[in-house]
Amino acid sequence: MKFNIALLAGDGIGPEVIEQAVKVSDAVAKKFGHEITWRPALTGAAAIDAVGEPYPDDTHEVCATSDAVLFGAIGHPKFDNDPSAPVRPEQGLLKMRKKLGLFANVRPTFTFPSLLDKSPLKQERIEGTDLVFLRELTGGIYFGEKGRRDNGETAFDNCVYTRAEVQRLAKKGFELAMARNKKLCCVDKANVLETSRLWRETVQAMEKDYPEVEVSYEFVDAVAMRLVQWPNSYDVLITENLFGDILTDEASVISGSMGLMPSASMGSDIALFEPIHGSYPQATGKNIANPMATVLSAAMMFEMAFNLPEEGQAIRDAVNKALAEGIVTEDLAEGGKAYGTKEVGDWLAANI
Ligand code: IPM
Ligand code: MN
Repeated sequence: MKFNIALLAGDGIGPEVIEQAVKVSDAVAKKFGHEITWRPALTGAAAIDAVGEPYPDDTHEVCATSDAVLFGAIGHPKFDNDPSAPVRPEQGLLKMRKKLGLFANVRPTFTFPSLLDKSPLKQERIEGTDLVFLRELTGGIYFGEKGRRDNGETAFDNCVYTRAEVQRLAKKGFELAMARNKKLCCVDKANVLETSRLWRETVQAMEKDYPEVEVSYEFVDAVAMRLVQWPNSYDVLITENLFGDILTDEASVISGSMGLMPSASMGSDIALFEPIHGSYPQATGKNIANPMATVLSAAMMFEMAFNLPEEGQAIRDAVNKALAEGIVTEDLAEGGKAYGTKEVGDWLAANI
């Protein structure tokens, strides 16, 4: 098959980790007889520096006309320390999500048998953890009306959801649960928030269409606790934008390294794949960043965007083998030999 893939390397370690994912994807394409055309485009601080805009129209055009988007990371410290900056790289990310209609952010958390001792949590707590968060990505407090009043002394961010937004996300959640262990947890704060009551009522009404799925409703504060106590009791969790942002960072430590966790953002049309870690400015250009999360994001791309599970599995097998044989970057080396970003990428590509 032939694919056009938009390549948004972004900022910080983005370009380095993306380079490894390209190498590994090209190795997969060669092995299985596919042809990939990579279509690089500017985003984030890199795009602000070049054209004054974090998600330029040209970049959107490239994304919207490709078969999938592979994304590195965006963010630059020069903007973090300047709250008055008129344009920020993160605005590009939000604009991209909205314009591409990426309403469902799929963030899996699983453990690697060879890395159980790397997690800060006790091994017996995390063994067998295999859960997926489905975070709503284009609504809620991120996109509601925001502003200041009273001469700037009062600030507000509105949280707004429509029933249709909840339904389309929940539908993906039910479908995912059906394809997995048939358990769905709706995470909300329905004891306090009106938007959460709309979420709960909407999901409850959909239960009858999926009689095999066991649905639970839990408050977000309780989930924050249970996630580190009994992560292996969860299967699929659906939640709104901000709760999902926070809980998925919490969940990422279960696996032992944020440098391992991939993600996908789906809409009705195009899908985007990216590591859940950020631009990690301190590591930029040092050849130390872990490329595995981005490489595993490419695996998700083959599986979910192109419906090619064998190709995805080939990548997962190479990553598991590298972990088992200690071909890892310094975040996972623990006193053993640490390989460079590029060397791990080369090894993975050679082992496809
Ligand atoms: C994420 C990030 C973004 C978010 C930021 C960079 C805007 O934290 O993808 O989780 O909050 O969604
Ligand atoms: Mn986040």
